[in-house]
Amino acid sequence: MIRVAILGAGIGREHLDGYRALPARYDVRALVDLDAARAKAVVGDSGIRVESAIEAVLGDPEIDLIDVCLPPHLHLPVSLQALEAGKHVVCEKPLVASLADADRLLAAARAADRRLTPVFQYRYGPAMAQLRALIAAGLTGRAYAASLETHWMRGPAYYAVPWRGTWVGENGGAVLGHAIHNHDLMMMVMGPVRRLTAFTATRVNPIQTEDCAAISFEMESGALVTSSITLGAATDTTRIRFCFEGLTAESGSSPYAPATGAWRFLAREPYD
Ligand SMILES: NC(=O)c1ccc[n+]([C@@H]2O[C@H](COP(=O)([O-])OP(=O)(O)OC[C@H]3O[C@@H](n4cnc5c(N)ncnc54)[C@H](O)[C@@H]3O)[C@@H](O)[C@H]2O)c1
Repeated sequence: MIRVAILGAGIGREHLDGYRALPARYDVRALVDLDAARAKAVVGDSGIRVESAIEAVLGDPEIDLIDVCLPPHLHLPVSLQALEAGKHVVCEKPLVASLADADRLLAAARAADRRLTPVFQYRYGPAMAQLRALIAAGLTGRAYAASLETHWMRGPAYYAVPWRGTWVGENGGAVLGHAIHNHDLMMMVMGPVRRLTAFTATRVNPIQTEDCAAISFEMESGALVTSSITLGAATDTTRIRFCFEGLTAESGSSPYAPATGAWRFLAREPYD
């Protein structure tokens, strides 16, 4: 049984639902938020204790895992603190804002012999299991090209939260904050990027960071990928298309968990 403290009562609410779905493995003991009313509304009468100070759970020997659902600028310092306190860490995206900081966290996790788990939920779900099975069976072959769409809708209400849309608070714009899941999935399926070129622009909302982008990737395998990103779409739609030697895989369009929807796998040579 892993005893958990969740930090942050925004997306932390959905993490709590996730732990509750696995009651034999996880026991959520505490929810920490500066906004006590928000945290209390999330825990209800479940008996989960509400704290306002992160230190209260970092120093608690009855907590094994710290789940960081705080604004992006707190991910690095709080994850480091938690690892140094001997806790395992789950941390929301974006884990950190640079490779150097990712290396720091990895080194801290290894030094503490604790597990560090970034949240990349696109990797999970039935359609991803199907794609992995097709790859493992050797039916995909070489990847030629892919297209990724992160076409979501964000307006003034979303940016009313002070950390959002700022370099200091959010550490990046739509490329880091929203398209991160598509780019993670691209690398999981197609391997590392050799080089890329991009245009970014702030066109939808009056914010510091970018909210539109067009990126072209050349993968180390030679495959070519385009990623189109905007927070000015009419709906929240994510779409992914991988074109392999053996088949084309087309995702569903759910923004937060595209691998839960039905994908289409179309063979180039139906006999194979
Ligand atoms: N994986 C996903 O699809 C997904 C979806 C939504 C959000 N997120 C990520 O989750 C993180 C949180 O986003 P959110 O939308 O829940 O933000 P939010 O602002 O709604 O919630 C963050 C909470 O943290 C609390 N907080 C801030 N500083 C604190 C501190 N020092 N001590 C205690 N509590 C503190 C705030 O009071 C707030 O309630 C972000 O990094 C975001 O990118 C990921």
